[in-house]
Amino acid sequence: MSQKTFQLDEPIGETRLDRHVQDVIGKGLPRFEGALKVSGRAPYAYENLHGADVAYGFLVTSTIGSGKILSIDAEAARAAPGVLHVVLDKRAVRASADASDPYPAQVNGEITHYGQPLCLVVAESFEAARDAARLVKVDVEYREGAYDLEANRHKAYDPGDDMGEMRKGEFEKAFAEAEVTFDATYTTPSQSHSAMEPHACVAHWTGDELTLHGCYQLIAKNVGQLAKALNVSASKVHIKAPYIGGGFGGKLGIGPEAVYASIAAKELGRPVKVALTRQQVYQATNRRSDTIQRIRLGATKDGRITAIAHDTIGSNSPGDDFIEPAGISTVFLYEGDNRLITHRKVDLDLLLSASMRAPGEAVGMLSLENAMDEMAEKLGLDPIEFRKRNEPRKDPQQGLPFSSRMLLECMDEGARRFGWADRPKRPGERREGEWLIGYGMSAASRKNLLQQSSAKVTLNADGSVGVETDMTDIGTGTYTILQQIAAEMLGLPVEKVAVKLGDSASPQAAGSGGSWGANSSGSSVYVACQGIVEKIAGKLGVSLDDLTLKDGTAIAGNRQTALAELLKGEPIEVTGTFKPGKAFKETHQASYGAHFCEVAVNSVTGETRVRRLLTVGAAGRILNEKTARSQCYGGQIFGIGAALTEELVVDPRSGLFVNHDLAEYHVPVNADVPQLEVVLLEERDRYASPLAGKGIGELAISGVGAAVTNAIYNACGVRVRDYPMTLDKVL
Ligand code: MOS
Repeated sequence: MSQKTFQLDEPIGETRLDRHVQDVIGKGLPRFEGALKVSGRAPYAYENLHGADVAYGFLVTSTIGSGKILSIDAEAARAAPGVLHVVLDKRAVRASADASDPYPAQVNGEITHYGQPLCLVVAESFEAARDAARLVKVDVEYREGAYDLEANRHKAYDPGDDMGEMRKGEFEKAFAEAEVTFDATYTTPSQSHSAMEPHACVAHWTGDELTLHGCYQLIAKNVGQLAKALNVSASKVHIKAPYIGGGFGGKLGIGPEAVYASIAAKELGRPVKVALTRQQVYQATNRRSDTIQRIRLGATKDGRITAIAHDTIGSNSPGDDFIEPAGISTVFLYEGDNRLITHRKVDLDLLLSASMRAPGEAVGMLSLENAMDEMAEKLGLDPIEFRKRNEPRKDPQQGLPFSSRMLLECMDEGARRFGWADRPKRPGERREGEWLIGYGMSAASRKNLLQQSSAKVTLNADGSVGVETDMTDIGTGTYTILQQIAAEMLGLPVEKVAVKLGDSASPQAAGSGGSWGANSSGSSVYVACQGIVEKIAGKLGVSLDDLTLKDGTAIAGNRQTALAELLKGEPIEVTGTFKPGKAFKETHQASYGAHFCEVAVNSVTGETRVRRLLTVGAAGRILNEKTARSQCYGGQIFGIGAALTEELVVDPRSGLFVNHDLAEYHVPVNADVPQLEVVLLEERDRYASPLAGKGIGELAISGVGAAVTNAIYNACGVRVRDYPMTLDKVL
């Protein structure tokens, strides 16, 4: 077994992927596990382990938002039929769901939010546990909580991270002196990830070794979190999550189910399953923060931005420092010598806020891209022309060169395909009966993140290939793209490549998060395969350039040898590790795009129907044209949700999220979503990874909601700066 490490210090040159010998990289192959998932053959976490010895846990959660636990009386619950055990353990009071947190938070008898887990009732069946959970009596000292961001905004403070305050030039002076100015405040509500699969797990111990079947995005980190929560060595904790029904950031960290199930299984000496109810997922895992965002733009009369500021206030629980980084794109998207980006936090007694579907851009670009539209109108410029006049040549904050940036191409291509020239020039101009028709656009950008990642690739004696890494596939297509990379690199049909994911016993990967998954884990597979190619070249005594691998054979000069024959019964195994290096650090990297939307707004009811939505994106090499496009469809749908429907409604008396299920928390459904169109432009970013690709998953979320609300303005002349733009606000 050998190791190969590759660090991207220089831009990558031509690679085997560019040769397209196998013609499989980039192809829109259907997801390998798709058929397994829709036919019920891909077991989700909760579906592992069956049999008489399995016990079922049900969480008891707080029905107040703030206070102190005086006592928990579980006597009646313990005596209920079928009940085996009640876990009352401080370690499990509240599991942190944020990956940046090294271990679950322990709140020592305090109630920090409505829905906080208090104890776990374990019984012979789920129903018995749920029944008995109602018998638990919790005595609390009630405290008046702070649940409202607006009412508490005067308490906002800078928690002192790098996003706290970023300055360049003299913003205040430049803004005061600008010929044309714009100053507006936008608000966005708390949101919920709403993955299809609720948080669930099965825990069982063999001696002092714990195995947890779970559904988490970052296996290696999750092992560390769970070990720390349980106060055991990480070497004793094993997590398996081969199939996951969506994450969206909500499963970056472990949830309360993992800690409670593990403690229960240990104390009971039996495997324990815990699934959160849908309501508990909303109340007891994590959310996206609500935000208040002030955007100020100063420009010359001919539309050159001289001053740009984006001030964000977000909320989180006391002690949790993550703030929705809403200003993340404002840092680099547009020119302007004088810049100010700030992020402030307000402590609220609400559920932990953490990363959700393009943290930062998703809601930050709702305001920035709306403001750009408003400013363009003030200047009498087409919104695309205004953006073009402010296209920076390098990252305007730090002065780093862009690794690649195709924003202008995306806007031009989108305008052409969408028929932007046909846009109604003024609100109210186009009408079809009761319906007012409008067009809107926005830019898209999402920072490219890249992480260290490892994978083991084995070329088996029979010429087949195995890929193994603790990387996850949360429905994004990881299995398939890793198959494609290995197949292209080693010259094999994809059917010959078996990919094993989501097992902490495998080499540590970057995990699924921040749109870095495909690029980072794919790069590790590339590195391992490159190691195998070198060994094959060595066996044949030829140089790498003279070696072609195709259809399971090695071709060098006029010799063609089947790989199986070449190996002589000896498999080749290489563990590849990819590390971001200087090429990554010394350039500014992001994926870019543009969204175009047509809406119809009903002049009687205020209802908005999205009629068309086009996204043009450029994210480096596309590894699988179908899975990439599907990711973008998802992003577009989230954008419609952020613009029009998604909102956690907080009861100001208790901090309860009133609409805590999929019936009341409106993620757009088919009837809300029109024909979607996604076009991905050809691009290779050779600074971004050995694959020359960039992150794509979250690109299509970023900015899209503003294209919708800009279209609403173009239709009917109503600007609402308080998202979501529901019909009552439009009227
Ligand atoms: Mo993502 S919000 O980092 O899963």
